[in-house]
Amino acid sequence: MPHRERYFLVCTNRRDASNPKGSCAASGSEALVVALKKALVDRGLHKRMRACSTSCLDLCEIGAAIVQEPDHVAYGGVTLEDIGAIVDAAEKGEVVSRLVVTAPGQPL
Ligand code: FES
Repeated sequence: MPHRERYFLVCTNRRDASNPKGSCAASGSEALVVALKKALVDRGLHKRMRACSTSCLDLCEIGAAIVQEPDHVAYGGVTLEDIGAIVDAAEKGEVVSRLVVTAPGQPL
């Protein structure tokens, strides 16, 4: 399988509920990666873009977090309602500004 033109790295890290850092899984990220994969397949984009579960991206305080590469942008506070907008934007080579917590080209 060739390298995809775009990757969505969805943090699915889970911490104990007593941990003050929280975790993206506790914010619903496990459902996000499933929905993102489905959206890519439904739109026929799965050969061009891939959604992957990943561990902590060190953006815990703004979870659920997704890093979109190669755009090098981080989304925070992502919900299931945002998945369509994320895929729409990625298909156009754009980002969803209202979800961006780290701008393109800036260090994560
Ligand atoms: S737990 Fe998701 S970024 Fe840390």
